[in-house]
Amino acid sequence: MKIKDLKEKFVASIYELYPSEEVQSFFNLLSEKHLGMSRIEIALNSEKSISEENISKFEAATQRLKSFEPVQYIIGETEFYGLPFKVNKNVLIPRPETEELVSWVVESLEKRREWREKRVEKKESENYESKRLSASLHPDNYRDCEKILDIGTGSGCIPIVLASKLPEAEIIAVDISMEALEVAKQNASLNKVNIDFKKVDILNSDNWNLKFKNLEFNCIVSNPPYVRELEKELMEPNVVKYEPATALFVKDNDPLLFYRKIAQFGKEYLKPNGLLFFEINEYLGEKMLKLLKEEDYSEIEIKKDIFGKDRMLKCIKK
Ligand SMILES: C[S@@+](CC[C@H](N)C(=O)[O-])C[C@H]1O[C@@H](n2cnc3c(N)ncnc32)[C@H](O)[C@@H]1O
Repeated sequence: MKIKDLKEKFVASIYELYPSEEVQSFFNLLSEKHLGMSRIEIALNSEKSISEENISKFEAATQRLKSFEPVQYIIGETEFYGLPFKVNKNVLIPRPETEELVSWVVESLEKRREWREKRVEKKESENYESKRLSASLHPDNYRDCEKILDIGTGSGCIPIVLASKLPEAEIIAVDISMEALEVAKQNASLNKVNIDFKKVDILNSDNWNLKFKNLEFNCIVSNPPYVRELEKELMEPNVVKYEPATALFVKDNDPLLFYRKIAQFGKEYLKPNGLLFFEINEYLGEKMLKLLKEEDYSEIEIKKDIFGKDRMLKCIKK
């Protein structure tokens, strides 16, 4: 079979189920994966014959697309913040809104570092003695002790981007799912960054001391499960059917459970003035503000995503 015939057959099998741009994009992704050919190469080689083995791979993918399985699971990979990530049914497919959260974290930590550097420079120029005293505050020393924790790491998308943007930081990432941690570890080596992954149930506060003994963080980030069961019917069926329920859902009667626990965790394990970042449920912004005030955090700020939805929160430990 020629490439042009394969494409025609593929489009005909699923064109009624997806918008045409999406069908085109699926074909490009599958061609890249199975034929190792880019969109342009496909266009230039439409008369080229392809093997029976590759035809079968396209047929298998078509069947999975027919039952609305996300294409990222079918090809086993996706892109987040311009980096490649392996994904499978044990991890949530990283979302664009999480990229916005990561940008905010990077921006905030870089601002803090610049501020520190300026402060050190100012002190240095004041007099030699303060220069000597401020040596321990010098950015070169500061770099050694920047510690970040990501809670509910899934594919590892958040800590891996942070490690690539902030190479001086020490990063720990935790998840309750061993299967998710396996994927996250693969992604860390794929992207050549060093992260300490741990299996932790963050809701079990009796274990915190065991898992985080003698640790204090400058920054904690989390995109925890936050979708209420009652919101299930608003979601795309392929998300509900294929993505891991432990990554998504919380009980209707206590939707902020993870945020409350993590805020309490932060009070014990963040350094004074440490930063706490959350991705949040777009419908629960006001409730999140109230919760973090009650937990005594300061400078609580909610940020909207590009669609104008309350989606991220940042606050500071007093
Ligand atoms: C919404 S997903 C976020 C995944 C990833 N950070 C991202 O942004 O794509 C939430 C993650 O929290 C993990 N999780 C669920 N319950 C947990 C718990 N009790 N302790 C630690 N992690 C938990 C899930 O396994 C899942 O990987």
